[in-house]
Amino acid sequence: MTGTAGIGAPGRGTVTLVGAGPGDAGLLTLRGLRALQDADVIVADRLGARAVLDQLAAEGVVLTAEVIDVGKLPGHHPVPQDGINALLVEHATAGRRVVRLKGGDPFVYGRGREEQQYCEDAGIPVEVVAGVTSAVSVPAVAGIPLTHRGIAASFTVLSGHDQIEQVPGGSDHTVVLLMGVNTLGHSAHVLSAGARGLDCPVAIIEDGYGERERVTIGTLGTIAHLAASRQVRSPAVVVVGDVVALSPHAPELVALWSAPEPRRPHWADALDAGLAVDTGLIQAVDSLDPASARRPLTSLFSRSR
Ligand SMILES: C[S@@+](CC[C@H](N)C(=O)[O-])C[C@H]1O[C@@H](n2cnc3c(N)ncnc32)[C@H](O)[C@@H]1O
Repeated sequence: MTGTAGIGAPGRGTVTLVGAGPGDAGLLTLRGLRALQDADVIVADRLGARAVLDQLAAEGVVLTAEVIDVGKLPGHHPVPQDGINALLVEHATAGRRVVRLKGGDPFVYGRGREEQQYCEDAGIPVEVVAGVTSAVSVPAVAGIPLTHRGIAASFTVLSGHDQIEQVPGGSDHTVVLLMGVNTLGHSAHVLSAGARGLDCPVAIIEDGYGERERVTIGTLGTIAHLAASRQVRSPAVVVVGDVVALSPHAPELVALWSAPEPRRPHWADALDAGLAVDTGLIQAVDSLDPASARRPLTSLFSRSR
């Protein structure tokens, strides 16, 4: 990042859209950090972005920029999108190097392209620094890969507001839902009506990398009830598919997996076929009360490919 404009040099400012990642400063890119260090003004979202700035300060990283918190709470926008756009242009037009710090990746449900267009229409040069999206990084905190050889070869990311009826595939096609907490019951119902069925595993990861981080595991048939009883809240990422069974948090699924035919779910066959799994999972399964399962789980899980 090599902005050359100084404060007060009208018309020579820039805007850099920076993805802050899911809220852990360790997942901010080096390029993003350099942009923050070079900035005169940082316009920051609440989700992800604010936490990263606080962590950087706690680690002794000195940022000299003025920070403007446009903190978007879910369903509540203290600074409306029009106001954010205007702020970016106003500061850049005044010759400042502006960083627009956004949670995750700016181009994944982040309105990044809209902000870029608005600034470019006003003659402001815009650079985009990609970020680590929550769609991939938050499942990772629960040990869930979105693809895994022999279990899932593809995935779809969509928001809870999207047309979930159009999602392709069965439980070997992973579905990741962002902003999906309020519509979870509907989504689970629609997805279970297709090839995935009621026994398809589901994970909800709340506040990934944050203080409220929590993982809830169930199936399409149970997840809405579980989420309600555990009072699951946004922000959360929902993962639907057989890959959820690879999570160290998945022992709750064991009861289903060890059920006799015909209750035995189809994803159990995939694991039974001898796929490699994390030792974390083996440990988690080992720690289960043996009375809760009817099969020698360790031998099943530890069989390598
Ligand atoms: C408006 S979208 C923004 C997504 C963002 N641009 C990204 O790439 O991650 C906000 C949604 O992202 C998800 N999200 C973002 N950060 C999260 C986190 N740390 N933990 C759980 N979910 C998160 C939640 O589904 C939340 O409702």
